[in-house]
Amino acid sequence: MERPADPTLVFRQRTSEATRRRVRLPAVAANAADHATIDLFLQSVFPGHSTAEFQASLDDPFYEPQDRLLLRQRRRIVAHVRLVHRAMHFGAVVIPITGIDRLGVAAEFRKRGLGGHLLRAAEARMESEGALLGVVRTASPGFFRRAGWVDCPAESYRRADACALLARLWDRRLIHRRRRRFHIRPLLRWEYPALARIYAQNILQSQLRRKVGPGPDAALRCPPIIGCTAHGPLERTEAYWKWLLDRRAFGQLFVALEGLELLEIDESKTRVVGYAVARGAEILELMAAPDCPRAAAELLARCCCEGVENGRHSIILHAPRSSRLFRLFDEAGGVGPPQDSDRGETDLIRLLDPVGMLRRLSGEFDRRASAAGLTRPLELGFFVEGRKYRLELGLEGVKADARGIGRSYLRLNRADFTRLVLGQLDWDAAVADRRLECSTALAAAAGRALFPRLPFWRPPWDDLPNTERT
Ligand SMILES: CC(C)(COP(=O)(O)OP(=O)(O)OC[C@H]1O[C@@H](n2cnc3c(N)ncnc32)[C@H](O)[C@@H]1OP(=O)(O)O)[C@@H](O)C(=O)NCCC(=O)NCCS
Repeated sequence: MERPADPTLVFRQRTSEATRRRVRLPAVAANAADHATIDLFLQSVFPGHSTAEFQASLDDPFYEPQDRLLLRQRRRIVAHVRLVHRAMHFGAVVIPITGIDRLGVAAEFRKRGLGGHLLRAAEARMESEGALLGVVRTASPGFFRRAGWVDCPAESYRRADACALLARLWDRRLIHRRRRRFHIRPLLRWEYPALARIYAQNILQSQLRRKVGPGPDAALRCPPIIGCTAHGPLERTEAYWKWLLDRRAFGQLFVALEGLELLEIDESKTRVVGYAVARGAEILELMAAPDCPRAAAELLARCCCEGVENGRHSIILHAPRSSRLFRLFDEAGGVGPPQDSDRGETDLIRLLDPVGMLRRLSGEFDRRASAAGLTRPLELGFFVEGRKYRLELGLEGVKADARGIGRSYLRLNRADFTRLVLGQLDWDAAVADRRLECSTALAAAAGRALFPRLPFWRPPWDDLPNTERT
């Protein structure tokens, strides 16, 4: 049974520049019986579409057939979009987000308003399901910008010559020709909990850095989380990790072992202290246990050697902007964005529920206000293209609503408001360009204190499609 996402939505059909007529074409949720037809449709719209990736999308632990919205003319599918449900770490909080995947319109139906119509239906559905942010990584950013989506660079990487990098690693004595501290080998299937542990240690970095010993419950014995430093990486549950590994959108996955190479299920003698996920010349994710930073250098060296062995001389490392390995790339003459601009995909984001997002971040605002010594009670309003939002910082905590803006407020457009909330707004540039106006000096001081610039990074492994054809 097909469920209309919003039967009131209509789209403009342009048979010619001069002739325009309004046609009702509801966005309907797909069901499992549609999968084979959808796969064929996606093959016709996306040249790189692989059936392996389509199968993997069905196995996604958060997937339901209703997450695909379709436009049909009679029985034929003419447009498709898939909503991908995820949770994103954003400082100390986890935010429900929805990704847009495979939004496509059949070639002969394009430029008639169908793509925009389906995107609006998808946004309405995302919002009604409680997502606070919409995210997309796309080769057609112009289409999304016209619909109000905002560029939010989530990519961070360096590219350098593999031999130059190896030379830098040797010069700095981070690796040794004979005496190796770590054993590096491909991942064994049962070792995925170690990956989950190291990912969590990196994403939820604790201020209490104490060594986590080996053992089957090592992930549970991680230090208590005091402050999360990451903004952007996804929350990965056990089911999600299994799916990520089964999906095989990577070429090689190496682990670094501290000690002898033993085949152990419980890491009782040999601890996994790092991993590197690579595909071709790209290292998609490289993480080491916080107490073994040298494992990262050895994993990088192993990836460089593999590259050289396979005739690839350039290596790309995806990592947060603060990664210490980037220094090595810089010393080896490496480049990264924006000098290196042939990547072809852009990250965009949409703030679906501004008040919900402000409420979710209220604990963060509380902490930032205290750290900056802001006097309470304090109100800060936001006037965003006719819409009004307000933060109320009281002695008891922080509240957000859409009831007014008060005397101290910031006036800015929707795109800049999105950047402000996500910690991506260049405050000085926005003020200089008159895109940001502060009604009072207090509004300016509170705004700067409550919305600092934040490092935003999303590991590419989560989104990278499996391009193997089956
Ligand atoms: C991108 C795509 C979905 C747009 O669908 P569409 O039905 O042609 O789009 P619409 O007719 O609704 O266009 C809406 C607006 O976006 C504009 N637009 C469409 N495609 C665009 C693009 N690639 N870049 C910039 N603007 C674009 C249109 O001109 C229109 O503007 P207007 O309202 O001022 O006239 C379609 O071209 C497509 O399927 N492309 C291949 C798959 C793809 O690249 N998907 C990207 C998302 S993963």
